[in-house]
Order: sequence, then structure tokens, then C-alpha cells
Amino acid sequence: MPRDLLQATSLKRSFHEGGRELHVLRGIDINVQRGQMVAILGASGSGKSTLLHLLGGFERPTACSVIFDGRNIYDLPGGKLDHYRNQHVGFVFQFYHLLPELTALENVMIAAMIRRGPLSWLAGQGATRQRALALLERVGLRERTRHRPAKLSGGERQRVAIARALMNQPDVLLADEPTGNLDRNTGANILQLLTELHDEGQTMVIVTHDEHVAARAESRGSVRRLVDGQLDGL
Ligand SMILES: Nc1ncnc2c1ncn2[C@@H]1O[C@H](COP(=O)(O)OP(=O)(O)O)[C@@H](O)[C@H]1O
Ligand SMILES: [Mg+2]
Repeated sequence: MPRDLLQATSLKRSFHEGGRELHVLRGIDINVQRGQMVAILGASGSGKSTLLHLLGGFERPTACSVIFDGRNIYDLPGGKLDHYRNQHVGFVFQFYHLLPELTALENVMIAAMIRRGPLSWLAGQGATRQRALALLERVGLRERTRHRPAKLSGGERQRVAIARALMNQPDVLLADEPTGNLDRNTGANILQLLTELHDEGQTMVIVTHDEHVAARAESRGSVRRLVDGQLDGL
């Protein structure tokens, strides 16, 4: 049996709000194997982003652990947790989070700079640039590499964000409602791109409230539903 790439058992996260405890995740069990596409379907406010942030090492669970490749990421010392986030995970944020003053190409390259640090990045800049250009071509943006985000459509911004997430060859791509802010047609194109990346071997976890995304994952992987802080549909 293949070992899980990413795994959590009884994962809990609550927030203190207005003097009371809001239990958002009440014991999540999830296993992601290499090469899998997993979709997590949930209504707005059900805790999808919270779960994805926990899996990506962006915030700490209230209880339990997240096991990546056999080790609890939240037991790692700070630098190693940064390394996990930068090296092993590619995160596609719901609102793209592109830097407005940088071009599409620079937005993709910056992921490598964060990973390598400025000096090593300068030394390897040529190769980084080539890889970023190849990724932008892969996501269909060869003609848009010098554009700043303000000059790009929503679908194009999402493509840049996906290229950036792939820059460091992540073991797992975590996508937070990748079609959530796009019209139906553009969303379908982004879904097609994600499907192709999955065909090329990319492991991914997508959280969504888009039934089209869930249907696609159902045909090629697994769909879990996030309801009342727990996942069903193993
Ligand atoms: N940092 C936070 N502090 C307090 N409450 C939060 C925080 N982050 C999320 N929540 C609450 O947790 C619930 C789930 O949020 P979220 O994970 O963003 O849901 P979804 O992504 O499914 O829309 C919401 O009720 C939200 O208000
Ligand atoms: Mg969300």
C-alpha cells in the first residue's frame, strides 16, 4: 500500500470570537496519496480555507497534527516549517495574491527567490527565469509575461498564481476555490488546466463549493464533503 503523502487525523481548529469558542474543524481525517486529486466540497464558512491553511503549514491546529511524508510538520522547528511551505507545498489563494507592482514573470520568479534567498537567487537567475517562462507558457500565458496583474483578466491572474505555485515543483498543490471568482467559462478553463496538471502527475487538494470541480475530481480521484466541521465520503 502506498504511504500517504499528507495525512491528518482528528484535526481540530477553533477560534476565540467575542468571548466564546468557535469550533470550525471538529476532527478532520484526511489522507492524500502521491498523484491523487482530492476535492473538498463545502459551503461558504464551513472551514475550507482553514483546513487548507492547516495542511499547508500556514497556521497551527488547535489539536492533532499534519503528517507530511511521515513527519508532523507542526513539530518541525520554525525554519523547517518555512521550508515545508516553500518547497513542498504550492498554494493557490482564492484571491490570487499577486504582487501588483511586479509583472506576471516576476510574480512567478519570486517564489524561487523566497526559496533560495537573494544571493543564491541572483546566481541562478537565468535558470529561474527560463523555468518561470516555461511555466507561464504551460499555463497559456506566453504572450502576457510582461503584464502586471492589473492588466490581466481574472482567469489570467489565476493562471499566473498557478504557475507561481508550481515554481518550486511542489509535492502537493493546495488550491483554495480556484474557480470561485471566475465566470463559468473561465472557471471551466482553469479546471481543465488543473486536470491536465493532474494527468502530468501533480498531486492536488482543491477546496471548492463548485459542483463542476467536485464532479471532475469524482471521476478521477476522491471527493470529500466538509459538513459541521467534519469530512464525510471516505
Ligand atoms: N482567524 C480567524 N478568527 C476567527 N474566526 C475565523 C478565523 N478564520 C476563520 N474564521 C471563521 O471560521 C469559519 C470558517 O472560515 P473559512 O475557513 O474561511 O471558511 P470557508 O473557506 O469554507 O468559507 C468562519 O465562520 C470564519 O468566520
Ligand atoms: Mg474560503
